[in-house]
Amino acid sequence: MKLATLKKLVFEKNVLSFLRLGGETQSLYRSAFASAADASGLLTLLQESPRDSHSIAQALRIGPERHNALLAWLDCGLGVGELALRGGRYHLKGKLSRLLARPRNDVTAAMFAEVTRYHFDAILGAPARLRGGRTYTLDDQDGALIARSSRILEPFVEEAIDWAFTQQRPRSVLEVGCGAGHYLSYMLKRWPGVQLTAIDMQADVVDSARAHLNAAGLKDQVDLQQAQLFDLPPPPPGQGYELITLHNNFYYFKSSERQALLEHVGRLLAPDGRVLITSSCQGGSPAVAALHLWWTLSDINAGLPERAQLLTLLQDTGWRDIAHRQLLPGESYYGFLARRPNPTL
Ligand SMILES: C[S@@+](CC[C@H](N)C(=O)[O-])C[C@H]1O[C@@H](n2cnc3c(N)ncnc32)[C@H](O)[C@@H]1O
Repeated sequence: MKLATLKKLVFEKNVLSFLRLGGETQSLYRSAFASAADASGLLTLLQESPRDSHSIAQALRIGPERHNALLAWLDCGLGVGELALRGGRYHLKGKLSRLLARPRNDVTAAMFAEVTRYHFDAILGAPARLRGGRTYTLDDQDGALIARSSRILEPFVEEAIDWAFTQQRPRSVLEVGCGAGHYLSYMLKRWPGVQLTAIDMQADVVDSARAHLNAAGLKDQVDLQQAQLFDLPPPPPGQGYELITLHNNFYYFKSSERQALLEHVGRLLAPDGRVLITSSCQGGSPAVAALHLWWTLSDINAGLPERAQLLTLLQDTGWRDIAHRQLLPGESYYGFLARRPNPTL
């Protein structure tokens, strides 16, 4: 390069400021590649053994007419150091890809996918969507992926379940929006004999819960249905569930539905039955802020609940003995437990 060219770059184009961005842009490229490689199955494939591009194309079901584009995509992986090419075969090289590819890191990989696929998209696309672009719907989310990433919260939700069961052991529980079904097996293993009913409105999620219960040998111990909460009819007077749990799905309900939700849950309960809600609330980490953004940009348009508002809503809809606790230290993640007073008393 000529000295004059260098001077132009430094003084006219302020290239030094661009160089300072180096780490940031590199990490964006790296994240985009690793996330797509994980979602496509490339990471798992290369974790098994190095492959040439033709065998990759075959495994990823990419036709010969797109082979050039496949090579261009793999070049991106080489460029950011996530892949290496030796003897015509691609290997996993980067720390990020190797971490995501390990089967024991499945929850981490799902969380990373949630960040790159949904949180990035919400933050990047927010101005256009706010100016009238399309709102998100539940179809924009991969329910099974969200159920996998939600598993990071398992220890905290289990602590909340222990809280509810220790306060008073319920004989029957309805789990609303059961996701992959891990809390069902948790309750059955910890309190054998508890009668469990579970619903989720998404068919693929119900399939994953069924597969989980099958694998745990517990399928006959849960009445699992694909259903929407509001479609469940109230039980005959004096009957009903002793505990209803809603884990990580309060924000799937519109603001206008939240009062009806708490009232409907109340109708499904036995006299003196309780509700346990676990939820991220507004005001947490960047991940919680991005989750709130995604839901405010969706057709539900309400976002995460505010802790104080949820407490007031419980009070206003007739719940008593309302208690709440922060489940994840330093994060806006809470459990809410409340009792429906017996109307005959
Ligand atoms: C983020 S996932 C959480 C799954 C699980 N509870 C957990 O914590 O891992 C929320 C789930 O709630 C379900 N859901 C949301 N609204 C529902 C409704 N009205 N009736 C039934 N299921 C619902 C969704 O289909 C989704 O699978």
